[in-house]
Amino acid sequence: MSTHTPAPTPAGFVVVPPGLAKVVVTDTEIGDVRGDEGFFHYRQYSAVDLAEAVGFEEAWHLLFHGHLPSASELDALRAEADRLRVLPPALADLLPAICATTTDSLQVLRTALSAWGGITGQRPLYDAGEQERLASAMAAVAVTPTILAASHRLQRGLEPVPADPGLDHATDYLRMVTGSLPTERDARAVEQYLVSTMDHGFNASTFTARVIASTGADLAACLVGAIGSFAGPRHGGAPSRALEALEQIGTPDRAEPWVREQVGSGARIMGFGHAVYRTHDPRSEMLKGVARRWDDPLVDFAIGVEATIERVLAELKPDRPLYANVEYYAGVVMRLAGLEPSMFTPTFCVARSVGWTANVLEQARDPKIIRPAARYVGPPPPQPVPARTPATA
Ligand SMILES: CC(C)(COP(=O)(O)OP(=O)(O)OC[C@H]1O[C@@H](n2cnc3c(N)ncnc32)[C@H](O)[C@@H]1OP(=O)(O)O)[C@@H](O)C(=O)NCCC(=O)NCCS
Repeated sequence: MSTHTPAPTPAGFVVVPPGLAKVVVTDTEIGDVRGDEGFFHYRQYSAVDLAEAVGFEEAWHLLFHGHLPSASELDALRAEADRLRVLPPALADLLPAICATTTDSLQVLRTALSAWGGITGQRPLYDAGEQERLASAMAAVAVTPTILAASHRLQRGLEPVPADPGLDHATDYLRMVTGSLPTERDARAVEQYLVSTMDHGFNASTFTARVIASTGADLAACLVGAIGSFAGPRHGGAPSRALEALEQIGTPDRAEPWVREQVGSGARIMGFGHAVYRTHDPRSEMLKGVARRWDDPLVDFAIGVEATIERVLAELKPDRPLYANVEYYAGVVMRLAGLEPSMFTPTFCVARSVGWTANVLEQARDPKIIRPAARYVGPPPPQPVPARTPATA
């Protein structure tokens, strides 16, 4: 905290709340979140309704093109995605070296997408026309699951499983990660998770992607920045941490003392609370329904613990409505569908790649660079530069 008196705000400047909370910075046709209502949408449709009704490819088309695809548009998108899901050979060659640098799958994805930008010759959005930008966005979304699945396997000393062009995006992602064809239930559950998390208003990573796009940089740069922003614990969070909490609790009778201990020590309960929602997170409610398709004790346990945590949080934090967020049941669903916790947040990126790139495409049509201002609160300038002793060799 600075001890200096801030410089007066220059005429024409506006001071906005910390974190830009509730500040509208642009118009968008992509979607929005209504936190008080517990509602969010892609274009004109409830995102939860879409997750119940459509597959990954249809939602992808909707976010890119503004309408749900006709049968022929869907076939065309699938054919293009099939082709683009295959790892470019130069990237396949490079991936083992990238995987040797870190065990963190998000760091691998970030570095690999940066390399992908060079390998596929991504040009600045500023120089590319609408069709070229769209082709880049299609390619980036299509290749993301292949990069993640291959790096997951390489990090475990396993051979990457090549993409299978006949399969849908979600099924092929699971197959490339686990090495075997998933059941329809598992694939559909993960697909519904992916559809429900493709986009979510003007969150930090989406904003990051749009700031970079507004400079006219290339699409890979926008994605690398978005992933960097997403990786932070205050944002992309960790569905794995919510699952770890369930493991720590262990038995239903432990839930109440555990949550009291955690809150008493100043910790936050992972998978609860949200920056925008002041009621139930609609994604959590939907994923709870998806989790119920498994006859697995983890599901009943998670439902029981959720009720206890919400009751105790209501007592301990009466001024703040705190409910389970998307991360809580996301971890449960992904675990039941056969994904390891280390792949939970990366799988979130498979979904978000669609929202990020849709936002980049929208931003790229706007010639205005995003360039806000900061209020200077340091020592008042100008002061004389102190005399310096010339450096001696
Ligand atoms: C998501 C999150 C960062 C939103 O934070 P935020 O909107 O900035 O909330 P604030 O920091 O203003 O917190 C308001 C109050 O609620 C409390 N609170 C918020 N989330 C809480 C949680 N998960 N557990 C316990 N208390 C919580 C805060 O301690 C604070 O209480 P206080 O007023 O007594 O100090 C926050 O809820 C959180 O950290 N949740 C856990 C991590 C998580 O699940 N992340 C995934 C989000 S999708």
